[in-house]
Amino acid sequence: MNHIIAPSLLAADFTRLADEIQMVNDSQADWLHLDVMDGRFVPNITFGMLLIDAAKQLCTKPLDVHLMIVEPEKYVEQFREAGADTITVHLEASPHLHRTLQQIKATGAKAGVAINPHTPASSLEDIIELADLVCVMSVNPGFGGQKFIYNTIPKIRRIKDLITVRNTETLIEVDGGVGLHNAEKILQAGADVLVAGSSVFKADDPADAVARLKDIGGE
Ligand code: DX5
Ligand code: ZN
Repeated sequence: MNHIIAPSLLAADFTRLADEIQMVNDSQADWLHLDVMDGRFVPNITFGMLLIDAAKQLCTKPLDVHLMIVEPEKYVEQFREAGADTITVHLEASPHLHRTLQQIKATGAKAGVAINPHTPASSLEDIIELADLVCVMSVNPGFGGQKFIYNTIPKIRRIKDLITVRNTETLIEVDGGVGLHNAEKILQAGADVLVAGSSVFKADDPADAVARLKDIGGE
């Protein structure tokens, strides 16, 4: 399967947001990844529905909204109305994850589950059938530009095995510290979606960085 590239807007130049999104439109990127942080689930605050709404008006690609917030179920409908195509909530922030994924699907959005670096693949065993996407965090969520945590690789393999055994259509997304230096290993482990912030937006030629990530051979 051809993998999906999702540049993360967090690493963009916010004084030129429209230009940065235009670059995404003109590039081989498949989705635009948007990191919503609340200063409670993670130690950083970014943006909310207003920016998702603006991005929706500018971006021709699907919006992949990653909620790093407590009580995400309170805001699912608002993020969908703002333009989210996929809504991903953290397993660690969702005591009623089964219900929350159903709630996301009821809005018409695709439902994603994100897991922190310390959360094992086995924690997905009783939820995988409901997840359109699993976002495997390969850094501790909160900031762009961090180093990839390598024991994520065997975890991706275990999640891939789970998806194969259960025969679900779930996509595996890998988020944090992804770039040309490790993308091949990540894809070989079974990832379908690469989120790339710094390695795209901080590159001299961001569209070319997307094209190179897209070119890498995986499974
Ligand atoms: C981290 C975010 C990531 C981040 C990735 O909390 O969820 O999506 O933007 O940025 P890089 O690719 O720079 O690690
Ligand atoms: Zn993210």
